[in-house]
Amino acid sequence: MSLSNPELSALVEPRRVHRRVYTDPAVFDLEMERIWGKAWIYVGHESQIPGPGDYITLQIGKIPIVMVRDRSGGVHVLYNRCGHKGAKLVDNSCGNTGGGFVCCYHGWSYKLDGRLVGVPHLKGYENTGFDKNDPQYSMQKLEKHQSYRGFVFASRDRHAPELTTWLGGARTVLDNLCDRSPEGEVEVAGGVIRYDHQCNWKMFNENLNDAMHPMVVHRSVVDAANEYIRTLPEDSPSRAEAEIIPPFGSSYKTFSEVDILAFPYGHHYNRGQNTIHAKYSVDPDYETVMLEAYGPERTREILTFNSHNTLYYPSLTIKSSIQNIRVVRPVAADHCIIETWSFRLKGAPDSLLQRTILYSRLINSSGSMVGPDDLVAYRRMQEGLESNANQWVEMHRDYGRDETVGDHLVNRCTSDLDIRTQYRAWRRYMLGET
Ligand code: FES
Ligand SMILES: [Fe+2]
Repeated sequence: MSLSNPELSALVEPRRVHRRVYTDPAVFDLEMERIWGKAWIYVGHESQIPGPGDYITLQIGKIPIVMVRDRSGGVHVLYNRCGHKGAKLVDNSCGNTGGGFVCCYHGWSYKLDGRLVGVPHLKGYENTGFDKNDPQYSMQKLEKHQSYRGFVFASRDRHAPELTTWLGGARTVLDNLCDRSPEGEVEVAGGVIRYDHQCNWKMFNENLNDAMHPMVVHRSVVDAANEYIRTLPEDSPSRAEAEIIPPFGSSYKTFSEVDILAFPYGHHYNRGQNTIHAKYSVDPDYETVMLEAYGPERTREILTFNSHNTLYYPSLTIKSSIQNIRVVRPVAADHCIIETWSFRLKGAPDSLLQRTILYSRLINSSGSMVGPDDLVAYRRMQEGLESNANQWVEMHRDYGRDETVGDHLVNRCTSDLDIRTQYRAWRRYMLGET
């Protein structure tokens, strides 16, 4: 049963949200239409489809989509639906479809831009009112798609603002990710780490810059890592691992010295001298190529942009300092899939990519020692929220202490500003105010 706007509005207050936003399938269905059907959703990176006919598939909300490259290098984002009786044109998560799409069912065929070109045994349609050239029988294009430095987003809302307007000030972090390449470009390296989360998609996003949990939920892995590190000789090749895990055990004080910056549309990122990546060593060869490309001042600016996590609400999270991204794909009220993609900084030494991949495995993969800690907490929240005994989830920390700076709000990373800003956007999308 659908919810009216007053009912939806009553679910989100400035300092608390109703448990139904995580558990109710009717809320989930509306989110898929009103948030995922309107916002700019991350589709993929252009480097995933380098040649003609290369494609990737995904779902935007519940809708199957395909992104494909044509013969002249153009990128198309199309509804993955046959114009005949609706079968998905491609079923794999990626591949090459040759010169066009051919439907598995009755063999209708399409160009790489989605235009219908072939209908078998066409004469049966003569004088029936069917016109093969009528665009309604082609694969339909998404209402909008735009690329920002190779990152392709699409929106099902033809009135969506320009992508750069929507990204707003949070665009800085995407720029920083790319600027860390001496060539100013990144590309996807290797495959995806994709795993099931038995929780509502918002729990993953709300955990992203929750600085009150690492020292609790990741305590055991940090202790174990520190014990292991003590056994390593100074010149051990495992020193890189040693740099990655311990910062997750940083103190409340350390995390509260990092800022959270919250932007319109629900985006946010954290920034400060004490982020989890702040003390990474710099490969001297990397420093050399960066200095050659950018000069000393700009190189320093790029490499000291310390940010841990950024959310482009609702679908894309990035770590510019380590060059990986995590992508949110909701499935049901209590189920989502999280993908981790690692990026190569074009023109940078291999050691940078090695560190990215090491981080993706050590922290984000299903076989890692850190991500699954969070996963257990999400599942336990999802199960706990089935209880009717208490209807609300609170988000009071540092409420009323946000500082306005230009287009964004700033508070401490240990505040709930990151969560409150997501619910401000949630309300606007769900009530049709954006
Ligand atoms: S459903 Fe695709 S050709 Fe019939
Ligand atoms: Fe965590």
